[in-house]
Amino acid sequence: MVEESNFLVSAPGKIIISGEHSVVYGKPALLAAVDRRLFVKIRGIEKGIKIIADEPEDLAQYAFQKTKEALNKKIKGGLKIKISSQIPVARGMGSSAALAVAMVGALFRYFKEPWDKNLINRIAYQIEKKQHGNPSGCDNSIACFGGFLWFQKRGESFKIRPLKIDFRLPEFVLLDSGRAKETTGEMVALVNEKFKVQKAETGRILDSLGRVTEKTASCFKKANFALLPVLIRENERLLEELGVVGKKAGKIIRKIEKLGGAAKICGAGGIKQGSGVILCYHQEAKVILDFAKKQKLTYFPVKLGVQGVRDEKN
Ligand code: PMV
Repeated sequence: MVEESNFLVSAPGKIIISGEHSVVYGKPALLAAVDRRLFVKIRGIEKGIKIIADEPEDLAQYAFQKTKEALNKKIKGGLKIKISSQIPVARGMGSSAALAVAMVGALFRYFKEPWDKNLINRIAYQIEKKQHGNPSGCDNSIACFGGFLWFQKRGESFKIRPLKIDFRLPEFVLLDSGRAKETTGEMVALVNEKFKVQKAETGRILDSLGRVTEKTASCFKKANFALLPVLIRENERLLEELGVVGKKAGKIIRKIEKLGGAAKICGAGGIKQGSGVILCYHQEAKVILDFAKKQKLTYFPVKLGVQGVRDEKN
């Protein structure tokens, strides 16, 4: 018998305003959900499990299995699961976390589980571990809760504080420096290698990143962005010292600085080719947009602070 079911759940992509990599070492991170979403649609079919996804299909398979196991449930008949996404892949915009969270959410709806976002987040974190090895959990948390988050990893648990932003934010522009060749897991491992070999030096960079994140969060809390350009530039310098910014992204960022703006990579980064999206800030956003057009760079106009995982049918 075919189960009469049809569910549609979505989760947003994200940017890390400050704190990538250092968040893995227990420092805080400031994150925002962005208005590009990933959708998981589930429909009951006669038999078999059919998962349709562009990429990464193996992660979709794993997310499905892991959630089923976590909930200790069996499928009656079969399922067709279709994934469609507006989030660019391998750009530091949290596409894999959005997939994990939306898959868990969709299966929660299918199995009629109570909509417990903390539990959805815990299961999504286990899925993220398969993809990234030693993730902080910040990506799945922002995809789950949405808005703006102050996030800190505490061993196996998270300290998550939503930030209330009820004022008009400065305009940010995301520029694409290209797809990273390395996975997030590889970039996290690279930093870990550096930490093992140059402990004191890497420790100093991570501490400084932690302080920059605190100051950046304070700009957002107080709605005072006077210091933001200085903080973004310092943030980028520290990420470069950490060794996660590629040449191409570095060059783009120097040009933006020359135009009076500030920019940083946004996520795990990448050194062999692209480093994902670059978060750019200028008092006049038009300067960045004109620059992007002139340089023929792809840019993403984004709205920050959107809703986390949600049932699109309710
Ligand atoms: O996967 P990305 O590019 O969004 O980067 C995640 C952020 C890192 O700090 C590099 C890793 C982590 O787990 O926090």
